[in-house]
Amino acid sequence: MKKVIFPGTFDPPTLGHMDIIQRASSIFDYLYVAVGQSLKKPKTAFSLSERIELLKQLTKNFANVEVVSFEGLLVDYTKQLNISTAIRAIRNTSDFDNEVVQAGMNKQLGEIETLYMAANDKFRNISSSLIKEIAYHGKRLSSFVPLEIEEFVFQRLYET
Ligand code: COA
Repeated sequence: MKKVIFPGTFDPPTLGHMDIIQRASSIFDYLYVAVGQSLKKPKTAFSLSERIELLKQLTKNFANVEVVSFEGLLVDYTKQLNISTAIRAIRNTSDFDNEVVQAGMNKQLGEIETLYMAANDKFRNISSSLIKEIAYHGKRLSSFVPLEIEEFVFQRLYET
């Protein structure tokens, strides 16, 4: 059984993330969606438990998807799960440049193989940071986040 992990901050999960989850779960036998923390993003808008709950709600109908969370290095967590393949989305050359370095380090630290999936054209401009800015100024988010979570995500970001 081929199990893979899709790690991210998911602050908040977006239509872009869901597109990757849908596509990856149809290719691989089992997909862990792993909510982690990037040192580059020390302050998240949504707490860890909120991000987990949002992703659980969004993936409840996917039989082979499990939402998990981890602290510390991805390579240590993948060792615990006994898996060696990570999925990451690439939207543009800037993502590619960042991801290549991260993938190289994960390979060196823990023999993790990183597979890239090209972000869907429709979602290439979506970014969790931009979404926060858009909601802050009062624009609704239905083009960027799944409808099931739009109200919660919008209200939270608009209030803060
Ligand atoms: N379509 C559109 N947008 C997408 C997308 C897609 N398919 N997939 C991701 N994105 C966007 C997100 O909205 C997000 O936007 P933002 O940068 O404006 O916030 C961005 O791409 C990436 O965010 P996300 O997918 O949530 O992941 P991340 O890059 O924040 O995740 C970790 C980073 C958690 C995977 C990484 O920091 C990690 O592994 N941390 C643990 C410690 C570790 O091991 N570090 C590495 C040492 S080598």
